Amino acid sequence: MSVPLVLVHGGAGDVPEDRRERHARGCLEAARAGGAVLAAGGSAVEAAVAAVRVLEDDPVYNAGRGCALTRDGHVSLDAAVMDGATLDVGAVAVLPPFRNPIAVAHALLREPEVLLAGPEAGRWAEAHGFEPVAEDELITDAVRARLAEALREGRARNFAGGTVGAVARDVEGRLAAATSTGGTMGKAPGRIGDSPVVGAGTYACAEAAVSATGDGESFLRSVFAARLADAVAAGADPAAELRRRLEEARDRYAGLGGAILLTPEGPPLRAWTSRGMSHGWWSPEDEGCGI
Ligand code: GLY
Repeated sequence: MSVPLVLVHGGAGDVPEDRRERHARGCLEAARAGGAVLAAGGSAVEAAVAAVRVLEDDPVYNAGRGCALTRDGHVSLDAAVMDGATLDVGAVAVLPPFRNPIAVAHALLREPEVLLAGPEAGRWAEAHGFEPVAEDELITDAVRARLAEALREGRARNFAGGTVGAVARDVEGRLAAATSTGGTMGKAPGRIGDSPVVGAGTYACAEAAVSATGDGESFLRSVFAARLADAVAAGADPAAELRRRLEEARDRYAGLGGAILLTPEGPPLRAWTSRGMSHGWWSPEDEGCGI
């Protein structure tokens, strides 16, 4: 038997002082929601998805409501969930507006397809009972203001209150990872980040579960999550390897960010090379949050 655990992140970046407490507390609430699933006998996958849903519903984070926009002002959602016990993956990219993209990815988890993208992903979601929402339901005034800033600067960028993710471990020691994002603010239409790409921003196997946040292109190019999980599976020290891979993404692939990592027995691990990363965790033994 393992100690069940849920660890979440609310995105890498520099959250202004007056909002730090709010970002960290939101992560704790999400971890508790995942923990309630585990306490009721739910699986690691169900717990990770439940935690991410809470963060998608909270407009301070860049996922679901409050997500970043393309440079032409549209919603384009990426999300993935991976079951470390079965290696099943469900992922959606460039998804049109749905309230909880992680729920769509979850519905895809046991299907033969791993990743659906674009309008067809939206049609698949509708055919499987998900209701699309009007784009305006997901777009907040704060997000419109941040898009205007990004356009003034002339480049897509991450913003504090970024990508969200969760890793979970159930009593059987099974692991899962889930990640959801609107991507970079002012991104090119059609751009897909690391979050829905298995092995880049999201990965889970028997030995490790990883969710990343930050400059997606560096995590894509460094195949971040899978290489981290493989190294842990091969016996590397999880905390040291997490830090080493993030430094590699920064120094060799020119991207800043953070990640969370769980193993079948170990503590909740988190690290970042960005200015901060809001996070929260829950287990029957303790809970907490930080940034
Ligand atoms: N890390 C999220 C993204 O770059 O889309």
